[in-house]
Amino acid sequence: MTKRQLKLGLVTTGVGGPGEYNRWLDPEIPVDASVNIDWYIDIARQAEAAKFDLVFIVDSQFITPDSPPHYLNRLEPLTLLSALAVATSHIGLVATATTSYNDPYNLARRLASLDLISKGRAGWNVVTSGDAGTSRNYGKDEHYDYDTRYGRAHEYLDVARGLWRSYEDGALVRDRETGQFLDPTKLHALNHKGRFFSVEGPLNIQRSPQGEPVIFQAGDSDQGRDLGAAIADGIFTHSKTIEQGQAFYADLKRRAVARGRNPEEIVIMPGVTVTVGDTDAEGRDIQRHYQEQDHSFDQALAAFGRSFGWHDFRQYDLDAPFPAEALEYARNSFFTGAKKVTDLAVSKSLTLRQAVEASRTSRPGPFVGSAATVADQIALWFEGRAIDGLNIHAGHPSQFRRFTQEVVPILQERGIFRRDYEASTLRGNLGLPIPTNVRETRREELAA
Ligand SMILES: Cc1cc2nc3c(=O)[nH]c(=O)nc-3n(C[C@H](O)[C@H](O)[C@H](O)COP(=O)(O)O)c2cc1C
Repeated sequence: MTKRQLKLGLVTTGVGGPGEYNRWLDPEIPVDASVNIDWYIDIARQAEAAKFDLVFIVDSQFITPDSPPHYLNRLEPLTLLSALAVATSHIGLVATATTSYNDPYNLARRLASLDLISKGRAGWNVVTSGDAGTSRNYGKDEHYDYDTRYGRAHEYLDVARGLWRSYEDGALVRDRETGQFLDPTKLHALNHKGRFFSVEGPLNIQRSPQGEPVIFQAGDSDQGRDLGAAIADGIFTHSKTIEQGQAFYADLKRRAVARGRNPEEIVIMPGVTVTVGDTDAEGRDIQRHYQEQDHSFDQALAAFGRSFGWHDFRQYDLDAPFPAEALEYARNSFFTGAKKVTDLAVSKSLTLRQAVEASRTSRPGPFVGSAATVADQIALWFEGRAIDGLNIHAGHPSQFRRFTQEVVPILQERGIFRRDYEASTLRGNLGLPIPTNVRETRREELAA
């Protein structure tokens, strides 16, 4: 039996995402990286040369002048990934798209198109939009509450998957001899009428070599985890310690088993920053340097309110106790994240200044040191079932190069990461089965 294999994804936040406000000052990064397709192609090809499973594009649709540089000016994920699809051949292409502000027919169609353009490499990171202000860009004063957000997301996935199964295999006959293009008995309307959506179908696009796009999910509340356990092939999350990672991993897989799913068919891949030096001490120095340089205290304070619906914390006394009442502003935003920050501040009696400082220095995580140390840590997390894979934040270009050129070979040497792609589809490389088209199964059952 082959050894269980680690999965690797690349998260790109070009000129700098949350906590990386000054990253764009790095002369190695073009100042327009986040809207520069040549830059994306270059980094995706680096990841593909290192045999990464996927490129992961995070996204949001609400900005303020205090948003991180990458968020202020970036490419729309599905458009971007369609361009990457023709510039790469094996790496998976995962687009974040929200179930709160898209119509299912339209989004299912765009994702299916990316899946065909890339010959079976598309993925969808299902989010419900953490930024409450997004509603005002879509004609709504208020963002949906959690029950509605997650209720829509469950039903949305039923609709999208139903639409992706509009055509059975062999429905498009395309026989020039007989002149038959379509076998209409193998094309199915959906006729979905639910609480949130009413969609007749069929969808006007066939399935891809991987059947349908791989589903990722990001959202950490109880409801978020239940959604992931129900619908996802992969989970995007954050874990700061191996113990936290193991607890999340066990919880998610338990929820999946409770729904009758095979736990090996959900890959858990937290997003992490990796810092590699010649020695452990140098790795820590580089990490400290970037932490200081990439994000000043004032920038961190301005950005601190994002999880709280972009509530402005600059109005409070920095040295007074943390204003826990601000959690109310997070109600329809990133509530789980905001609650963690608030609970920590209250339990440790932090001032606002200390809470901002804690959030500022908490990002890098445990993957810091020489290449051997970083590889050891990754193997520890992987073998200890805290992760099935990692989504590596590309960060500074020199660091991503060090990861691909120094850490990946060690992981390969240990036999936990591939030396070459097993398949040309994302599902194939992640070791996930092609979803059955229930309509086909039914036809076979009827014929038997
Ligand atoms: C790790 C992680 C990544 C996320 N990425 C995005 C994203 O790229 N775009 C977005 O609109 N929301 C994103 N979300 C927000 C979630 O979809 C969700 O709306 C939010 O986290 C609140 O739900 P929760 O309390 O269940 O976590 C992310 C959430 C998590 C935990």
